[in-house]
Formats: sequence, C-alpha cells, structure tokens
Amino acid sequence: MSESSAFGRPLRILTLETTCDETAAAVVTDRLEVLGSVVASQDALHRRFGGVVPEIASRAHLQRILPVIDETLRRAGVRLADLDAVAVANTPDLAGSLLVGLVAAKSLAVALGIPLIAIDHLQAHIYACRIASGQEVFPCVGLVASGGHTTLYRCASPLAFELLGSTIDDAAGEAFDKVAMMLGLGYPGGPAIERAAMSGNPAAYAFPRPFLHDADRLDFSFSGLKTAVRYAIAGPGRADFDQICLSHAQRADLAASFQEAVVDCLVGKAILALQKTGEKTLCVGGGVAANRRLRERLEAETQRHRVRLHIAPLPLCSDNAVMGAIAVERYRAGCFEPLDLDVSPGPMRKPR
Ligand code: KG4
Ligand code: ZN
Repeated sequence: MSESSAFGRPLRILTLETTCDETAAAVVTDRLEVLGSVVASQDALHRRFGGVVPEIASRAHLQRILPVIDETLRRAGVRLADLDAVAVANTPDLAGSLLVGLVAAKSLAVALGIPLIAIDHLQAHIYACRIASGQEVFPCVGLVASGGHTTLYRCASPLAFELLGSTIDDAAGEAFDKVAMMLGLGYPGGPAIERAAMSGNPAAYAFPRPFLHDADRLDFSFSGLKTAVRYAIAGPGRADFDQICLSHAQRADLAASFQEAVVDCLVGKAILALQKTGEKTLCVGGGVAANRRLRERLEAETQRHRVRLHIAPLPLCSDNAVMGAIAVERYRAGCFEPLDLDVSPGPMRKPR
C-alpha cells in the first residue's frame, strides 16, 4: 500500500551515499520507483594507489556532493521543495567520507523541515535485490561481498537484520584488489581478475578455503588466501617480488584459482547460512556480486538446494544511492533520526 503524501502523490525521498569512494544520490518514491540517480565514481583518483585513499575520498566527496544532488534532482524532475524526506548512509566505512553525506543530509533536513533517515550501507546492498526484483524478498539470508566488507545476515524483514558472520580479516573485494596488484592487473582488481581468469584453470593451484568445512562457523578469512597467492608467485622471503615476470598462462591460472577459492567460500557459507536458518531465499549484493563466476555458482547451488536466489543487477552491485530505497521502509515505520545523528565507521565484524 502506498503512503501517498497529503498532495495525493507518491512520497519522494532523496537518498545519499558517500560511504567509500562513490558520491551518489537518488530520488526514490514510496512505490519504490527510481525517479533519478547519479553515481560519480572516484576510481580514477585512487587507481595509482591501488586502493581507496580515505583523505582523497572525503575531499572528492566534498567537491562532488552538491553537483551530484543537483543533477539527481534535475534528472528526477523534482525540486528541493518537493522532497518528503532525506536519507543518508551513515554506517559503516570511512569516517571522513560518511561525514560529507551526513552533513549534507542534515543540512537539507533542517533547511527543508523534512525528516532525516539513517541507512546502513550493507543492509542497503541487500535491499538492492528488493528494488531490482520488484517483489518481496524478505525474509531471506543476505550476503554482502564488497571492497570493505563480507557479511552474512538473517534478514527477517527490511528492518530486522541479524549478523550471522563476517570476515575476520580482509574483505573479499579487498582480496581481489590486492591479488590483482600482485598479478600486475590494475585497479579495481575484481573485474581485472575476472577477465584474466577466463582463460585460466581454476584447479591449477590448490589455494586455501578457510573455514569452508567448519560447519559451526559462518565467517570468512581472505588474508591467508592472499598470502598463498603471493607465495605461489614467489616463495616466502623473496625481496625482489615486484621483478618477477609471469607468463600470460601463469597469470590466468593464478587468477582463476584465486577466484575459485573466493567463490567456494562465499557460496559455501551462504548455503550453510540457509541451512542453519531454514530460510528459503538468498539475496546477494556488493561489488563482488558482479563477478560472473560467483553468479553462475550461486545459481547452480541455490537450484540444487531449492532456494530462491536474488542477485543485485550489475549497476546496483557497486555503490549507488538507489539501494538507499531501504529508507522507504524506515519512513513507513516512522524510524526518523535526531539531528545529532553521528557516523558509525569501521569494519562490520560479529562481536565475539
Ligand atoms: O560494493 P563496492 O562498490 O564498494 C564497497 O562498498 O566496498 O565494492 C567494490 C569492490 C572492489 O573491491 C572491486 O574489486 C570488487 O568490488 N569488484 C569485483 C568485481 N567488480 C567489482 N570483484 C570480483 N569480480 C568483479 N567482477
Ligand atoms: Zn558498498
């Protein structure tokens, strides 16, 4: 049922996303229509460092946030005065980056006299499946695999996420980025590894799959896998690591074997989470969910286990503000925030 405003039109919510290195905004309605969306990527600024530099990211957000909001409103054909609420991702990730979005959102909330809504960026990655599928996906198990996070949730509803497990060290995307650097494949590493892996043999190297056969744990660990790739390129202690020349075939085999190990862990733990919770739906989001081998394997395994699968479509895998439509659910539930709302940065880890 739509919560149309006093004017008999759908509610319009401006959603902002500045958690990491994409400055994004969208206007969504309470009918989950996307009226306008803009994503300004910072990849070009971070490429030469092989990863996101937090200080560069927050400065770039500052420069981009207002033009991105203006362009989003223009595309949506909506004026500031037409907005019914403003929502912002305030957790988790880079403190400086989060603050830029939060301050912009608070300023709009005060100036326009509209409610402020908080978005959990990882929950929004799962919600990308809801908005893309156009159908109810809750309750479900949610898997987020991104550059900074790898988390598994039981999602009873869009307002009730229970953290089941997470990486205890590197995130899956971070491992893709670092291994791509070792293989001289550039940044961001995920798409580059995926391309290189296409001509490689996924069984060429027996890389570790931490926790995969531990039925009591729903956690991940990718840092040892990364080290195993390093040692496969050159044994421990080699100081001239950067000088090593890999053939095209070696690089392809390393990429394919590494990718297969990550995919095995993600798929294995997602299926274990479904078995443990008894849920019948799996929703997958985050940048790594763009990986074709992961998508293929998820499709095969969920079919085998007779579970419904939703994977975010490619444009909604990497960071965007459309998935911030999870704010619609909070609006409906009256979950509004006071103006002293703070950011909650840092990695998402299951407390022990
Ligand atoms: O969700 P996202 O855009 O940003 C974060 O919130 O972290 O994820 C970015 C991550 C990067 O580490 C990137 O290498 C990875 O997603 N990625 C991929 C692919 N495309 C992007 N990893 C594997 N395969 C891909 N095709
Ligand atoms: Zn993300």
